[in-house]
Amino acid sequence: MKISSLRKHAFTSSAITQSDIRRVTVIGSGQMGSGIAQVAAMKQHEVTLVDVNQEALERGKGYMSKSLKRVAKKKFPEDAKAQNQFVEKALGHVTLSTNASKSVSNAGLVVEAVVENLKAKQNIFVKLAMEAPDNAILASNTSSLPIAKIAAPLTLSQRKRFIGLHFFNPVPQMKLVEVVRSDEVDQKTVDDAVAFVKSIGKTPAVCKDTPGFIVNRLLLPYMMESIRLLESGVASARDIDTAMKLGAGYPMGPFELCDYVGLDTIKFIVDGWYKEGAGLKGNKLFESSKKLDELVQAGSLGVKSGKGFYDY
Ligand SMILES: NC(=O)c1ccc[n+]([C@@H]2O[C@H](COP(=O)([O-])OP(=O)(O)OC[C@H]3O[C@@H](n4cnc5c(N)ncnc54)[C@H](O)[C@@H]3O)[C@@H](O)[C@H]2O)c1
Repeated sequence: MKISSLRKHAFTSSAITQSDIRRVTVIGSGQMGSGIAQVAAMKQHEVTLVDVNQEALERGKGYMSKSLKRVAKKKFPEDAKAQNQFVEKALGHVTLSTNASKSVSNAGLVVEAVVENLKAKQNIFVKLAMEAPDNAILASNTSSLPIAKIAAPLTLSQRKRFIGLHFFNPVPQMKLVEVVRSDEVDQKTVDDAVAFVKSIGKTPAVCKDTPGFIVNRLLLPYMMESIRLLESGVASARDIDTAMKLGAGYPMGPFELCDYVGLDTIKFIVDGWYKEGAGLKGNKLFESSKKLDELVQAGSLGVKSGKGFYDY
């Protein structure tokens, strides 16, 4: 379904400009992709949101509309007309498409947010890097895969334009974007990615391409140590949560956070790092625990399954 029409631009292989980067193609219209499309559209970027079928696109549009209505209500309380205008204006900057090749043909920035699967991401970039302008920035929103591994099948010139843009969930609310640089990316790409993040009202934190980047690298050991504290009988989950909220000023306790993230996701990440994480392999901080294994085995995955460390 077309919300606004695509503008065609002639591209050369010269350096990309900030006005080129205002044309953004987001691949994957799930939770993250639709959030990224929404925040870029709210800042008047021309966004094309791509997914494999119309149903997925409509679901993504639904996420955007719902979230935009919430933002509009806060921005213009008591003014229904202004609220509607705000929502329509943002959606007017988004084109929905199932044709990825056509959608990247005039993009300045391509952001991939499909399933967390290395092969799937590599296949997308191998195809789209050739179809996008040869100065476009290529970015992945992966949360756990090495950026250099995703970019490995690309040419050197494409890898120099390849970067991680790690948004946080829910995208419209979370202010941080980790800008992840591999050893091969060129400085101009990093600078342009940082400028893009600022242009959509987010705050960038640049880091190297290492497991967990910054936030998850620090959060995962914290979560695992909390579980070990519980297992060793030092305190209850409720008391540990209360202690960290009131004593350290955290908005959520570690067990509330674990349940929100999903216990299967946590186990998947620490198992991967413990087994083969660069620089983390065999590190006891990332060893799974009996309690975590039991909960995952029982299907108690946290908020999404109705039960985790707490009942929902
Ligand atoms: N959910 C989170 O909290 C979170 C946070 C940060 C980063 N991430 C990362 O963002 C990415 C997306 O996560 P999500 O939670 O939005 O997933 P999701 O399952 O909600 O959405 C993925 C979307 O990608 C689409 N898709 C799959 N293959 C495609 C293809 N070849 N072309 C176009 N679309 C395709 C699917 O149809 C689906 O709509 C993952 O890499 C994930 O690790 C997720």
